[in-house]
Amino acid sequence: MDLDQVLEKRRSIRSFKSSNVSKEKIRKIIEAGVKAPTAGNIQPWRFLVTKDKTKIEKTVDTTYVGANINSKKNQDWIRKAPVIILACIDYSDMVAKYGEHGKKVAVQDVSAAVENMILKIVDLGLVSCWIAGFKETELKKVFQVPTEIEIMAFLPIGYEDKYRRSKPSKKKINEVVFNEVYGKKVEK
Ligand SMILES: Cc1cc2nc3c(=O)[nH]c(=O)nc-3n(C[C@H](O)[C@H](O)[C@H](O)COP(=O)(O)O)c2cc1C
Repeated sequence: MDLDQVLEKRRSIRSFKSSNVSKEKIRKIIEAGVKAPTAGNIQPWRFLVTKDKTKIEKTVDTTYVGANINSKKNQDWIRKAPVIILACIDYSDMVAKYGEHGKKVAVQDVSAAVENMILKIVDLGLVSCWIAGFKETELKKVFQVPTEIEIMAFLPIGYEDKYRRSKPSKKKINEVVFNEVYGKKVEK
């Protein structure tokens, strides 16, 4: 698919068919992720793939709706995802090379990788949604993730089921772009 088409088509989709996602497609998604730019070529990303129904259920049990981490409501729509990829950060090499600054850039690296994956997911005819609303300590237990590793986000991935795609309103370019000086707006 042409890049502009992928960008236009990409939306956070929260409804999946039960159809499986092939190993080959999962591999292509990961391969897109690891092509992202990374400070000092350190590649702090670590990905964990699960298709295990029980683990997916347990993953959803760690999620919450909205901004309230104490909410008893989970993001239940994720239960139907046939596969989930966790995007984790191993800070060790980054911090060894860049000190505290390494933490900041590692998050940027893994975010770049996740976005690459999201775009590849669209290219492969699949859908997904970036998920950050989960209790990390609980989720780590599900996958035996060591304390020093961060689970930054995860992606439930699948084939889109009937889903009413609304168009989330986006800020206009001239609201978010400045010319030469911060706050100086560009022409409309
Ligand atoms: C860092 C980040 C965290 C997000 N966390 C969640 C989440 O926990 N649950 C969810 O349903 N969507 C989540 N989203 C998706 C956003 O809600 C979505 O991108 C936004 O509403 C714009 O819609 P669009 O992606 O269709 O353009 C997250 C997106 C980002 C970038």
